[in-house]
Amino acid sequence: QLLAPIQQDLAGQHWVITAGPTMEAIDPVRYISNHSSGKMGYALAAAAQARGASVTLVSGPTQLDAPQGVKRIEIKSAEDMLSACREAMVKPADVFIGAAAVADFRMKEVASQKMKKTGDSDEMQLTLVKNPDVIATLSQENTAKCMVGFAAETQDVIAYAKSKLERKGLDLIIANDVSRTDIGFNNDENQVTVLSKDQQWTPPKESKSALAIELVELITQYQSTK
Ligand code: CTP
Ligand code: CA
Repeated sequence: QLLAPIQQDLAGQHWVITAGPTMEAIDPVRYISNHSSGKMGYALAAAAQARGASVTLVSGPTQLDAPQGVKRIEIKSAEDMLSACREAMVKPADVFIGAAAVADFRMKEVASQKMKKTGDSDEMQLTLVKNPDVIATLSQENTAKCMVGFAAETQDVIAYAKSKLERKGLDLIIANDVSRTDIGFNNDENQVTVLSKDQQWTPPKESKSALAIELVELITQYQSTK
C-alpha cells in the first residue's frame, strides 16, 4: 500500500458546506454575481469526506467537479441556497460551513423580458433588495451543532470578522483578507485567521487543499471541546 489510509474518524457525521458564488437574475439574459471560484468550499468538502463524514455541498455555479463521494446540490440564487440547506439539514447537521460568496442583494423584481436600452437617458437604475443571510438564518434555526462562517474583508479584518461571528451567532469564523491579490478569491492559495469567541489561530499561507485539511482538523478539535 502506497498511502496510509486516512482515519475515518468523522464517520457518522453530516457536514453541510456552501461554496461558490450565487447568481441573481436581472432579466432572462443577465445576472449579478461575483468572482468566487468555489475552490475553498470544494476543498473543505473533499477534506471532510476523506475523514469519513457524509458531506452535502450546496454550490453556486462553478467550473469545478464535485469531489468524489460528496453529494452536490447545485443552486443559483441565495434564496435557493437557503432552501437547499434547510432541506439538507431537516435532521440537524454536525457542522455547517458557509464558504459561499452569497450575493448580498438581488433584484426587487426580475424583469420577465430582456431589458432594453431605449430612451434618451445615459443612466440606468436597478432597484435591489437584501438577500436572506443564509448562515445567520440557519444559525437561528439551530440546524447545525457547529456553525462556521467566512468573513471576506478588505480592511480591519479581525475586528469585522469578530463582529460577524457575534452578529450571526457562529462558533467559528474564518477571516480572509480579500484585498491581497496573492490569496483568497479565485486564487489557489489562501491565508486565513480562524476566530472563536475567545481564541484565534493563524495557519500558514498554503494551497487551499492543504489549508482545508487543517481547517477540518481545527473544526473537529473545536467540536470536541464544546
Ligand atoms: N453569508 C450568508 N448569506 C448572505 C451573506 C453572507 O450566508 N446573504 C455568509 C457567507 O457565506 C460567509 C459569511 O456570511 O460565511 C460572511 O459573509 P460576508 O460577505 O463576509 O459578510 P456579510 O454579512 O455579507 O457582510 P458584508 O458583505 O457587508 O461585509
Ligand atoms: Ca457580503
